[in-house]
Amino acid sequence: MGGSHCETDDNRADDQTWECDSGSEPVPKVRETAGVPSAGYATYGLVGAGGFGRETMPVLVDMLDYRPGEAERRLVFVVEGDDHPAQVNGFPVMSLAAFLRRDEPRYFNVAIADSQVRKRIAITCLQAGLEPISIISRHAVILDANAIGEGAIFAPFATVTSNATIGRFFHANLYSYVAHDCRIGDFVTFAPAVRCNGHIAVGDYAYLGTGATLKPGQADRPLVIGEGAVVGMGAVVLKDVAPYTTVVGNPARSLRC
Ligand SMILES: CC(C)(COP(=O)(O)OP(=O)(O)OC[C@H]1O[C@@H](n2cnc3c(N)ncnc32)[C@H](O)[C@@H]1OP(=O)(O)O)[C@@H](O)C(=O)NCCC(=O)NCCS
Repeated sequence: MGGSHCETDDNRADDQTWECDSGSEPVPKVRETAGVPSAGYATYGLVGAGGFGRETMPVLVDMLDYRPGEAERRLVFVVEGDDHPAQVNGFPVMSLAAFLRRDEPRYFNVAIADSQVRKRIAITCLQAGLEPISIISRHAVILDANAIGEGAIFAPFATVTSNATIGRFFHANLYSYVAHDCRIGDFVTFAPAVRCNGHIAVGDYAYLGTGATLKPGQADRPLVIGEGAVVGMGAVVLKDVAPYTTVVGNPARSLRC
């Protein structure tokens, strides 16, 4: 990691479970384990072998300082269904069902941009007792006093500055940043080069397309990107975006109105 400290989500409720959103299925709370088991053999499953998965695997390799053929650890791609190649980019591919059935220690992350798919798979893995692992490029920069939930992916050159709170299973793709005092929900996806300036609140499941730029909010009045909202590539967002709407353009306006 390129910066100083990055806390996990202890500022959340202390309950064994907490809701991702009102009325949704509770997500089991599992503490993040950064290290490798002291003994034995562990499998790191990266769910998703599409573009983002194939971009993320080398980040995981680098983060773990993994050497192919190690006795204690192996890295695999995990995909849904049984119709898959034996290998992708030299890594074995395993079905999710097979991954869940194994009994060695297993760590997982989900490199799938679709929030709802990511959530469904994350819940399945958590309920099976697997440990989420955040994947943070050594070329990412995480500065000061941030609280970041488990299962995050920070691609190379992603940045979080200071005093941001970020939920679980966040994706920050290449060159995206989260600036000071932002509050990012769960299962939020930032495509490459998203500029999320200070004092912005992004709801659960929101998707921000490549190069989206968000106007800074204020301490007493953050700019709000609603739950499940989609911000199109290159949009310049000056005003709040309602939940489950899509906005595009400069200035950003609703796509469907
Ligand atoms: C906004 C978005 C989600 C809309 O997708 P969609 O619902 O499939 O929309 P369509 O492609 O059918 O386009 C609908 C209209 O919106 C316009 N439009 C789509 N995306 C736009 C954008 N980012 N900015 C401006 N206009 C856009 C289209 O030109 C089209 O206009 P028209 O009806 O006048 O022809 C999508 O275009 C987008 O920006 N996705 C983000 C992609 C991305 O960043 N991926 C990262 C991969 S790592």
